[in-house]
Amino acid sequence: MQIVILKNAAEVAAYGADIFTQQLARNAGSVLGLATGSTPVALYQELIRRNEAGSVSFSKAKTFNLDEYLGLDGEHPQSYRYFMNEQLFNHVDINKDNTHVPPGDAKNPIEACKEYEAQINAAGGIDVQLLGIGRNGHIGFNEPSSGLTSRTRVKTLTKATIDDNARFFAADEYQPHLSITMGIGTILDARKVVLLATGENKADAVHAMIEGPLTAACPASALQMHRHAVIVLDEGAASKLK
Ligand code: F6R
Repeated sequence: MQIVILKNAAEVAAYGADIFTQQLARNAGSVLGLATGSTPVALYQELIRRNEAGSVSFSKAKTFNLDEYLGLDGEHPQSYRYFMNEQLFNHVDINKDNTHVPPGDAKNPIEACKEYEAQINAAGGIDVQLLGIGRNGHIGFNEPSSGLTSRTRVKTLTKATIDDNARFFAADEYQPHLSITMGIGTILDARKVVLLATGENKADAVHAMIEGPLTAACPASALQMHRHAVIVLDEGAASKLK
């Protein structure tokens, strides 16, 4: 694991944007693995700025998102497809046909998971996978106890994750308890992974991921096994590293 500790969230976003910019400069047709949540928003804003300035293009890129709520279609404002359209895809020169988010409205979710894996393989595999980390150490929606070789599948969310994400839902709004997520094995197959974490509330999870044992109790610790994992932290997220 390569650990990069920067001053603040803005520097983390710029560092992450540099990795994606360089990847697309090397290969305009790169396959990018993307994430939702609060952490990557600043990185996406930076990529939008660079796209407007002409210093990065997504016109030939393909993307695969990590996860989606099961039970929400892509028009639902809390769906991850909607999030990606709003936060990135609608603002850059990407062909939406080349963007993939697991289908939250799949009639047969188990088949849809297999199909998602097949689509990733058909695209040639993921060149760079972006990740955030949950306070419980999850990556994607691979909650603690997820198999370290798991593939894309339907996963029940833990109470901790449901509570953490309740901030995005109105009090009387239906909040799904199930998801479709790339598995840990799927994530580890990416040729490079870049995990961003900012803020002191991630410090325990970051400590467990980097300095704890390799264990399904902290799914992000699986990145210890990856040959090309870059962990980009601000001072708060790094504050419990020894
Ligand atoms: C998002 C995802 C999650 C988040 C994690 C951190 O697609 O898969 O694992 O990366 O929950 O979320 P934030 O960035 O909101 O703290």
